[in-house]
Amino acid sequence: MQDLNELIEKMSGIRQSILSETSDLSDSKMVYEMKKTFLDKNGRIGQMMRFMREIDPSQRADFGQKVNELKNWAQNYFSSMDEKMKEKELELRYESEKIDVTMPAVTHEVGCLHPVTQMRNQLIDIFSGMGFEIYEGSEVENDYYNFTALNTPQDHPARDMQDTFYLSPEFLLRTQTSSGQIHVMENRKPPIKILSPGKVFRSDDDATHSPMFSQMEGLVVDRSITLGDLQGMLDVFVKKIYGDDVRTRLRPSFFPFTEPSVEVDVSCFECGGKGCNLCKHTGWIEVLGAGIVNRKVLENCGIDPDEYSGLAFGIGLERIAMLKYGINNIKQLFESDLRVLSQINDH
Ligand code: DAH
Repeated sequence: MQDLNELIEKMSGIRQSILSETSDLSDSKMVYEMKKTFLDKNGRIGQMMRFMREIDPSQRADFGQKVNELKNWAQNYFSSMDEKMKEKELELRYESEKIDVTMPAVTHEVGCLHPVTQMRNQLIDIFSGMGFEIYEGSEVENDYYNFTALNTPQDHPARDMQDTFYLSPEFLLRTQTSSGQIHVMENRKPPIKILSPGKVFRSDDDATHSPMFSQMEGLVVDRSITLGDLQGMLDVFVKKIYGDDVRTRLRPSFFPFTEPSVEVDVSCFECGGKGCNLCKHTGWIEVLGAGIVNRKVLENCGIDPDEYSGLAFGIGLERIAMLKYGINNIKQLFESDLRVLSQINDH
C-alpha cells in the first residue's frame, strides 16, 4: 500500500524538478522535449497515475485530484514557457531578417552585345532582307581555298597583301572570308546569294589593324550580274547603317579574285561630303572591297563564266563599326573596357 503523503511529497518533488530543470532551457524545441519527459504517458507525471491502484480506495479521489492539479499546473507552465520561447525566437528572426531600407540598392548591370556583334547582326538583317543566305565557313582553311582557288597561286604577288598565319605548309588561319565563296560555289549551282560572316586572321597589328578581325563576305552568282547590281545592294546597306543621305562611289582597285575590282567609298556621313577630319578632307570614306567575280574563279568551281557572272564584296566589320561609332583605335574594340563598350547600344 502506498502512503498518500509520500506520494504528495513525490509530486512536490516533481514540481521542484520542473522548475529547476527548465531554468536553463533556451528554445522552444528544448521545452517541447522536456515537457514530454514529464507529461507523456510514461513521463514522470504520467506515471503517477499508476499508483492509483496501490493506495487506499478512500484516498484515491484526493490523490487523483492532486495528480490532475499537478498535471494542469505543468501543462500551463510548459505552454507559457513555450509561448515565451517562441516570442523570443520570432524576435530573433525578425532581427536577423530585418531589411535596412536605407542601404544602397544592389543593382544588376544589364549587359549588351559587343559593338562588332551588333554590327554583324545589323548587316545580317539588312542582307537577309535582300535574300542573302548565311554561310559560315571554317577558320582553319587550306591554302587552296584561301588563295589558289581565288586566283592567287603560290607565287602570286597578291599573297603579300595579306600576312598569313600558317599552321602547316598546307593549312592556315583564313586571311579572308572569301574562302567561303569557293566552298559555296563548289557545292551549289547558281543562282547563289550568300553572306558569310566570320573571323579572319592576319599578322598585322596597329591602330586600325588587329591580328584577328571580322569580315562579312557577300557573293551573288546568276545570269547577267553586273557592277550595277553590286552598287544597288551596297547602297541599301550603307544607307541603313550610315543614313539615307549617304551615297556610294566605286573606285577601280585590284583583287585577284575579282575583275574588275573596286574599292567602295561612302560620302562622308560626318560632314556630308564637305571635308572633315574623318574623311581626311576628301569627302569620301573607303568602306570595303568588291568586284565582279573573276572568270577564273568561276571556272575553278566548275561554273561556266560564259553563262553566269557573279559579284562579290568583303566588308570589314570592325572598320564599319569604328566609323559608325566614332572609335579611332581598333584596340578599343578588343579591350573589353566597359566605359567604351557600354556607350554603344544600338539594339
Ligand atoms: N578578301 C578581301 C580582303 O580581305 C576583301 C574583298 C575584296 C572581298 C573584294 C571580296 C571582293 O569579295 O570582291 O581584303
